[in-house]
Amino acid sequence: MQGDADATHFGAFCDGNLVGVGSFFPGDEGVRLRKLAVAPEFQGHGVARALLQSALVQLRAQGCGQIWCHARVSAAEFYRRLGFDLEAGVFQKRGLDYVIARLEVCPA
Ligand SMILES: CC(C)(COP(=O)(O)OP(=O)(O)OC[C@H]1O[C@@H](n2cnc3c(N)ncnc32)[C@H](O)[C@@H]1OP(=O)(O)O)[C@@H](O)C(=O)NCCC(=O)NCCS
Repeated sequence: MQGDADATHFGAFCDGNLVGVGSFFPGDEGVRLRKLAVAPEFQGHGVARALLQSALVQLRAQGCGQIWCHARVSAAEFYRRLGFDLEAGVFQKRGLDYVIARLEVCPA
C-alpha cells in the first residue's frame, strides 16, 4: 500500500509461521498503526499485545510521541486495554464502524 516503503512492519511468529502482523506508518500526527491482525486460531493468546509492546520499544527509541489508528469498534476494547484513548465519534469505512484510538508514547 502507499507508504509501505517508509513504514515499519512487524510480524509475530509461532514455530516459524507468521501468525500476526502490524504496520507502523510515520506521519505528521505521529505514527499510524495499520493492518493489525492476528490469525483467528491464535487470537486471545496475547499475540497482538506482544507485537505492540515490541513495536513500542523500537518506536520509543526512534522518538515516536504518539501512535494512532482507525480502530474497528469491534476491537476498541483491545486498544483500550493496551492504554489507547478512544475518541468519541464513530465513523464508517467500507461498511464497518471505526473510532480513532491514540496512545501517547512516553520518552525512553
Ligand atoms: C483485534 C486483534 C488484533 C487482537 O489480537 P489478539 O492477539 O487476539 O489480542 P490479545 O490476545 O493480545 O489481547 C490483548 C487484550 O485485549 C483483549 N481483546 C482482544 N481482542 C478483543 C476484542 N475484539 N474485544 C475485546 N477485548 C479484546 C484480550 O482479551 C486481552 O485482554 P487482557 O490482556 O486484559 O486479558 C485480533 O482479534 C484480530 O486480528 N482481529 C481481526 C482483525 C482486527 O479487528 N484488527 C484490528 C483492526 S482495527
